[in-house]
Amino acid sequence: MTKVLVTGGAGFIGSEFVRQAVKRGYKVVVVDKLTYAGDLKRLNSVIDQISFYRADISDRKAMEEIFSSEKPEIVVHWAAETHVDRSILNPSQFIDTNVKGTQTLLDLSRDHKVKRFINISTDEVYGELGEEGEFTEETPLNPSSPYSASKAAADMLGRAYWRTFKLPVITVRPSNNYGPWQYPEKLIPVVILKAIKNEKVPVYGKGLNVREWLHVSDCARAVLEIIEKGKDGAIYNVGSDEEKRNIEVVKTILEILGKPEDLIEFVPDRPGHDFRYSMNTERIRREIGWEPLVSFSQGIRETVSWYLSNLKWVEEKLQELQTFWNKEYWKRREVVKS
Ligand SMILES: NC(=O)c1ccc[n+]([C@@H]2O[C@H](COP(=O)([O-])OP(=O)(O)OC[C@H]3O[C@@H](n4cnc5c(N)ncnc54)[C@H](O)[C@@H]3O)[C@@H](O)[C@H]2O)c1
Repeated sequence: MTKVLVTGGAGFIGSEFVRQAVKRGYKVVVVDKLTYAGDLKRLNSVIDQISFYRADISDRKAMEEIFSSEKPEIVVHWAAETHVDRSILNPSQFIDTNVKGTQTLLDLSRDHKVKRFINISTDEVYGELGEEGEFTEETPLNPSSPYSASKAAADMLGRAYWRTFKLPVITVRPSNNYGPWQYPEKLIPVVILKAIKNEKVPVYGKGLNVREWLHVSDCARAVLEIIEKGKDGAIYNVGSDEEKRNIEVVKTILEILGKPEDLIEFVPDRPGHDFRYSMNTERIRREIGWEPLVSFSQGIRETVSWYLSNLKWVEEKLQELQTFWNKEYWKRREVVKS
């Protein structure tokens, strides 16, 4: 049984990866700090079949102990601070986790002679596109937000450890994921939850920004296939070819829920908001033989119905979010006063 250490395994995509890896027969060790975004409930169905450590990936001593005792053969590194809006409020935690945390894991993987390190990056490292064009794996990185800049740094550190130390790093750059268990501060769950409650659905700008929507199960399966068939040092884009404007996504969800479009409320755009991402995925299709299996029209229906069936979990998260944003609001008022 191959042992894989999964960072961020209690997060949205990491937990889907863990569930699939267990099913494929991997021995899984999860390391997660359980920040606001992490939740062990996502791992309920496999919790007896995995080992779990609550630890911060940038805590070198704690991570050294885990590497020494578990001796993983493969590391799949999902852990990150991931919300762009939070990176605009406070970039520091993004540097600590996404950059320093990644460097700590790369060092320990080199010292412990890990056979494969899967460094999860994002399409956001490429920056934005206009109406035309697409990102290939050779497109230069040009990130826009503190989040994507920290991910680009982590991505490049992984490439550097391959070039300099021959640590067998594979870089994976997925497009926007959606599906069950996503924390309700990201676009799709926000829209579903606001609409269910007949509340105004906030949409940045005019909702014209374009994203390529990838179902979380397709993303996790892509990474498993890359572990088994990928080449050391390679970069793989993972995308679905399903490009949608944000406004189209919002209208589709309202239609599924039978809600009126006048719930939509346009709000001032996010600073530095990338207009469009689009992935060329020829490499993963040709070299790995992977392709997405869940169409957006099917995946979004299933996602809406998952949220409807899991309102208790979502309500807990919404309460936490409310507390967070209230605190931020009062912090800002203090700054304005002083
Ligand atoms: N969600 C997307 O659309 C998307 C798209 C492309 C790439 N990605 C990348 O995929 C990865 C997973 O994304 P997600 O949406 O599942 O994120 P998420 O925010 O749902 O989960 C992140 C997980 O990492 C954990 N974590 C955060 N800081 C940590 C630290 N210092 N030490 C240990 N654990 C820590 C959290 O507790 C949480 O469980 C990230 O690297 C993200 O950049 C996400």
